[in-house]
Amino acid sequence: MRHIRAEILNWYLVYKRSLPWRETKNPYDIWLSEIILQQTRVEQGMSYYFKFLERFPTVFDLAEAKEQEVLNLWQGLGYYSRARNLHRTAKEIVDVHQGEFPQTYDGLLSLKGIGPYTAAAIASFSFDLPHAVLDGNVFRVLSRIHNWDVPINSTQGKKDFEKLANELLDTENPGLFNQAMMEFGALHCKPTQALCHVCPVAIHCLGFQEKKVDQLPVKLKKQAIRKRFFLFEIIRVG
Ligand code: ADE
Repeated sequence: MRHIRAEILNWYLVYKRSLPWRETKNPYDIWLSEIILQQTRVEQGMSYYFKFLERFPTVFDLAEAKEQEVLNLWQGLGYYSRARNLHRTAKEIVDVHQGEFPQTYDGLLSLKGIGPYTAAAIASFSFDLPHAVLDGNVFRVLSRIHNWDVPINSTQGKKDFEKLANELLDTENPGLFNQAMMEFGALHCKPTQALCHVCPVAIHCLGFQEKKVDQLPVKLKKQAIRKRFFLFEIIRVG
């Protein structure tokens, strides 16, 4: 485990992209970036991140805005519920928490629109608290390293991967390590054409040794909804 941790951190220090939200510990900036990046690629999200910070430099500015202005600025990103929740949560942080983000994982999780992933991201990136983030990239890296084929979207899978992620987490540098795991998944341990031939983790990777990398992670398919039409005949007797 120690070796895997060190290899991923070393890889990150060499190959990481320079991204603006990695240069700050401000929880507002980090929260904003994480909400924007939830269903948006980094390249597309970047200009929105700057636009929002310019117009709403603090959580107070965002809380005071009219919802329509927030939605207008969000235009082009889609999934508008994200913008509505962003605005609502900004108001909650101002009204209930005097504009200060809670500084614990549970406190962050109690905010509307902040789930386990975002709470772990803010807790670790801003406050260096030891909470592992679990996004699609992290699920993939962990499932391959451990050759773990329990579906990532099953109840058991979520429990297993949370445990694996927190075991691997560098608790001395949780923020840095979380960024490293996500970046390693995004750029190196990719969904297809993973770069196993030049991978510093390959010698420790059970999925690689068992030639299972292409089949991991496993995800349960949603049951397709079948439209079925029935005809009934009612027979009255007597
Ligand atoms: N996607 C979601 N959060 C990210 C982050 N902090 N850095 C890079 N990509 C991300």
